[in-house]
Amino acid sequence: MNRGERPTERPHVAADPAALAAFAAAAVAARIRARAAERGRFDLVLSGGTTPGPVYEALAESHAGDVPWDRVHVWYADERCVPPDDPASNHGAVEVALLGRVALRPPQVHRVRGEDAPGRAADLYEEALRDAWPRAASPEFDLVLLGIGTDGHTASLFPGSPVLEERVRWVSPARSPAAPHPRVTLTLPGLAGAREVVFLVTGGGKRPVLAEILRDPVASAARYPAARLAAMRSVAFWADAAAAGVA
Ligand code: 6PG
Repeated sequence: MNRGERPTERPHVAADPAALAAFAAAAVAARIRARAAERGRFDLVLSGGTTPGPVYEALAESHAGDVPWDRVHVWYADERCVPPDDPASNHGAVEVALLGRVALRPPQVHRVRGEDAPGRAADLYEEALRDAWPRAASPEFDLVLLGIGTDGHTASLFPGSPVLEERVRWVSPARSPAAPHPRVTLTLPGLAGAREVVFLVTGGGKRPVLAEILRDPVASAARYPAARLAAMRSVAFWADAAAAGVA
């Protein structure tokens, strides 16, 4: 069936951001346990922004001991071109909230070198991904956690950006129309082959964009990069009541 003929799967809705964080952390932990047992490894892609912070904290606080962290490899959906200790660094924030608090060793963390020039950082990140999946058409991540901006962007794929037309590269330099730092982002081909893609969405400000994408990802794909991904492949939405419009 064509995705445009039916609404996407209903989102999982939690009462508030704290409940969503607890649900998401437990769900991520369960996926890591199951898949790491099966495959011996779990490739997890994390996003920046404010929404996933409580999820990372809940993973560290409630699941440091019940997840085989030594089998988890962490990647990033995008990064700002700043050094890792800059407050704007996604890796820096994830390090504080999660990575420094669980049994992950540095070789398991594949960060984007935000301290390098965007083109160089993108090339190095692409190389690391191609080393991990040398024969694949797209990285075979186990789980990608993404956010959505009120303008429908996801990762650093912004509405109208030429990066949305990328067909070959898995990683690209990118720019936010509103924010100062250049960025590096996974492209649509970089995200297309993941086993599972989940959008974490909280707050009433995201309600209109989420409603539109859920109603018809194909129709909204022209305006919203997140919808473009949702129209290309199966995705899930984990939202709080305010974002889902049931508050
Ligand atoms: C980033 C992101 C970006 C984010 C959205 C939503 O690094 O900022 O990867 O795509 O997920 O902008 O951000 P909030 O969670 O802050 O609303």
